[in-house]
Amino acid sequence: MKLVFLGPPGSGKGTYASRIAPKLGIAHVSTGDILREAAAAKTPIGLKADEYMKVGKPVPDKIMADIIKNRLKASDCINGFILDCPYNVAQAQAVDVVNRTRIDIALNMVVPQNVLIARLTARRVCQKCGEIYNLRTKILPKVEGICDKCGGLLIHREDDKEAAVKVRLAIYEERARLMLKYYAEKGKLVNIEWKKTDVPPGEVDIPPDIMVEKILKILRKFK
Ligand code: AP5
Ligand code: MG
Repeated sequence: MKLVFLGPPGSGKGTYASRIAPKLGIAHVSTGDILREAAAAKTPIGLKADEYMKVGKPVPDKIMADIIKNRLKASDCINGFILDCPYNVAQAQAVDVVNRTRIDIALNMVVPQNVLIARLTARRVCQKCGEIYNLRTKILPKVEGICDKCGGLLIHREDDKEAAVKVRLAIYEERARLMLKYYAEKGKLVNIEWKKTDVPPGEVDIPPDIMVEKILKILRKFK
């Protein structure tokens, strides 16, 4: 399966993709992770991208289109992938150029703004492997500040601090509007909505496992 996960910052793209991709035996391709790795390695592209990422602004398409195309041509994407995520129509078209067969589904996570802000400002990520945790929803590592998966240090991303979160959310609607239309017109768009009634008693958010099950149920229908 070739899937695209869409949605605003904090809507759960990375959390769900990292759990679903191994279950389906396909690759999880995160554009944000690729850029953060390039920035940490101080490659010319990484250093340039970091100037945008730190303040919460999208990296220019002329950098992104090649990154996406090259990554989707890698051997681990042969059986399929979850791309998390193209940012606009130009990038969505770049994906379709690589995949002459086109993607199967574009799954769009719809989540209220107050939930997004609460999630992002409490998110912690592993500096080494990118594993995602959250202080607010108690998605915590066994040892404080240390990743369960690889032992790396957990950090509060610069762009998850309140000022940058506000910039990211403010520009999301505009950058995504035409891209959602692009996938809708191709009959590929499936919306999945955050509903208060799905929050279990005593919890502050929907546990990711519940959402993962919902998504897998949707995907089974398309297989
Ligand atoms: P990137 O890292 O991709 O940031 P983003 O697009 O803003 O998306 P996020 O990772 O913030 O959101 P997410 O939906 O993955 O949320 P997650 O599941 O982690 O990109 C960073 C930067 O790189 C961009 O700002 C830009 O500069 C640049 N960039 C990247 N791709 C680009 C592109 N294609 N073009 C141009 N520039 C690009 O978070 C959810 C949090 O909530 C977690 O902490 C999780 O544990 C918690 N949580 C609690 N309950 C739930 C639940 N039910 N579901 C999901 N999460 C839950
Ligand atoms: Mg992410």
